[in-house]
Amino acid sequence: MKKLPTITTEIGRYFLTDRIREEVDFSTTPQSRGVRPPPVQMPAPPGSRIIPLPDKEAWSIPPYDLETAIANRESHRRFTAGALYLEELAFLLWATQGVRGARHDAAVLRTVPSAGCRHPFETYLAIMRVEGLESGIYRHLPIDHALVHVREIDNLTAHLTAATHGQSFVGHAAVTFIWTAIPKRTEWRYAEASFKVIALDAGHVCQNLYLACAAIGAGSCAIAAYNQTLVDDLLGVDGYEELSIYMAPVGKITEEQ
Ligand SMILES: Cc1cc2nc3c(=O)[nH]c(=O)nc-3n(C[C@H](O)[C@H](O)[C@H](O)COP(=O)(O)O)c2cc1C
Repeated sequence: MKKLPTITTEIGRYFLTDRIREEVDFSTTPQSRGVRPPPVQMPAPPGSRIIPLPDKEAWSIPPYDLETAIANRESHRRFTAGALYLEELAFLLWATQGVRGARHDAAVLRTVPSAGCRHPFETYLAIMRVEGLESGIYRHLPIDHALVHVREIDNLTAHLTAATHGQSFVGHAAVTFIWTAIPKRTEWRYAEASFKVIALDAGHVCQNLYLACAAIGAGSCAIAAYNQTLVDDLLGVDGYEELSIYMAPVGKITEEQ
């Protein structure tokens, strides 16, 4: 893994400001130089197992009042042993990264905002209990409305607990969303001014997950305390060109009727 420098308070506080925008020469960004943008979705490796997700028209997710969802939003760290249906998982993926249109062939509009419409994230799923799916690591293909199977993991519960510094409730979730960032997607437009907006983008995604969970009797909890190397290794990403940035376990919080 590439060795990255240690942050200082000065650099950290600078990162929180938008001063970098005054320093970047935007005339030299890949976009300004006419370089094609990176793909909006990382392709599935040839020969991998693709699992189509149920179409939105076929879902039976009951309507849920937005005001109630916002008023009751809270972090959940206790989950029942219940599984998620595949259509419920499809609904959560739509709420967090769903494609709602194309701006042109190099940018897609999604259900969450993203600086410059760059959408730098990939969504990995550590699946423990989703009906019809074996436990393991999967990745969402938002353009294809499908999942790609990434790998099987022995004792995923223990791996998730260790990878989140012993937060054992993560290992007991039905599914844990793990978002990676591919910085180049945003750097194509914003160069060194990308990093703060990538972090801001991630917050919108997780908030939509919290709100969508309410509609299916599920709960979630944002996780930023994780071991970078263990999580990157679990997903099989290099930690530099693609790096884990945020996680959120999801599980049922109400028993089935
Ligand atoms: C960026 C961020 C990182 C968080 N990381 C963790 C975490 O690693 N573990 C955890 O149990 N909760 C984590 N939380 C959840 C917070 O502890 C929680 O939002 C806070 O205590 C307020 O509770 P509420 O969400 O129920 O309102 C995180 C929340 C955010 C927004």
